[in-house]
Amino acid sequence: MSERSAADQKWDTGPRDSRAELPLALAMRPSGKAGIRYSYSSATTGFLSRIHELLELTKAARSTKSSAEWVVKRFQQTKERVLDATGVHLENRKALDIGPGQRLGCLRCFSLTNDVVGIDTDVITPSFDVLAYARMVRHNTLMRTLKTFARQLMGIDARFRAALATELGVSFLPEARVLRMSATAMTFPDETFDFVYSHSVFEHIDDPEAALREVARVLRPGGVAYISVHLYSSHSGSHDPRILCQGSPRPPFWPHLRPALAPAIRPNTYLNRLRLSEWRALFDTIMPGATFVSDRQDGELTEPLRMLRQQGELSSFSDEELLTVDFVGIWKKPATAVHATDPVSGTGRTSLKATGSDKSPPRSATAWNLGAAR
Ligand SMILES: C[S@@+](CC[C@H](N)C(=O)[O-])C[C@H]1O[C@@H](n2cnc3c(N)ncnc32)[C@H](O)[C@@H]1O
Repeated sequence: MSERSAADQKWDTGPRDSRAELPLALAMRPSGKAGIRYSYSSATTGFLSRIHELLELTKAARSTKSSAEWVVKRFQQTKERVLDATGVHLENRKALDIGPGQRLGCLRCFSLTNDVVGIDTDVITPSFDVLAYARMVRHNTLMRTLKTFARQLMGIDARFRAALATELGVSFLPEARVLRMSATAMTFPDETFDFVYSHSVFEHIDDPEAALREVARVLRPGGVAYISVHLYSSHSGSHDPRILCQGSPRPPFWPHLRPALAPAIRPNTYLNRLRLSEWRALFDTIMPGATFVSDRQDGELTEPLRMLRQQGELSSFSDEELLTVDFVGIWKKPATAVHATDPVSGTGRTSLKATGSDKSPPRSATAWNLGAAR
């Protein structure tokens, strides 16, 4: 066995996640008729991990400004990337944010100049509301509800909203609309949206192929999808809170991919564990011609990776897989595409036939069928 670093040796070998030992190849669980079946954070985790996450909230309370800066940077970068890859300006569009999460960061940014709705399998409540909390306990699990409650009680969400408005140079942010709906089985009609956005969500979906097909279905011809995936093979891809939060003691590098360390990994959520080549293949099949962008972490990780390779570790992963944190697929649905339902499976298929124009004005906010998905 290779010589282990001090960080590796200190790594806590507490309760284990049995899935950490599964082969990494496509560990998807086919879901049949996909719907809302779980809270994304309810899959695996220990009580101590949750306490750890709650403690991390106190850090979050102090870093709302930097979080807002980061979200606005991501928002600007998304607009630039979409323009570069497709020529489409993200203004006055009818848009969908898949899995905006409780903070609603990018959804609020896009809402400034677009007509945006979000969908999430968790109940999302932008402010304290007793009824919404009752639904949260039912759907999001008690621990996650407590976390949301703690965040709102500590004023973290309100401070984040204020910091976001300051960062965007506006005095208020539009009301956010989020429906409880799964990306794998959307209730929107075909060709509803000009833009579909998702960040750090598809790695949590048990049937990402169904979700990607749904995105292709609900996009208008000429509409754009921007799907950013936090790669499982990245250093933080295990979603163990100790790594996501960069806590102390400093965790070892890529522990979830190293057989000696993987048993100690405790993800705080369900992960489908798709590898980079599998994501590429999915995009190529469902969204042919998609442009790919990789957000990499070369600077801080190149040297540790070199040392691990010298020790013979991580040999079944390419540098690209290990150093890419977020893998982004950007796709403009051909102006000539029409969506048809597959007669066999009943799922959406996109075929190429002439129809429609590339531009139409965004529909009004009242067009949303808010009741249907609740
Ligand atoms: C890691 S959070 C990402 C939040 C936000 N997009 C961001 O980047 O900060 C993942 C979110 O995806 C949601 N989610 C998981 N599976 C989903 C699905 N099948 N359909 C819609 N949302 C889902 C979760 O409930 C959670 O709010």
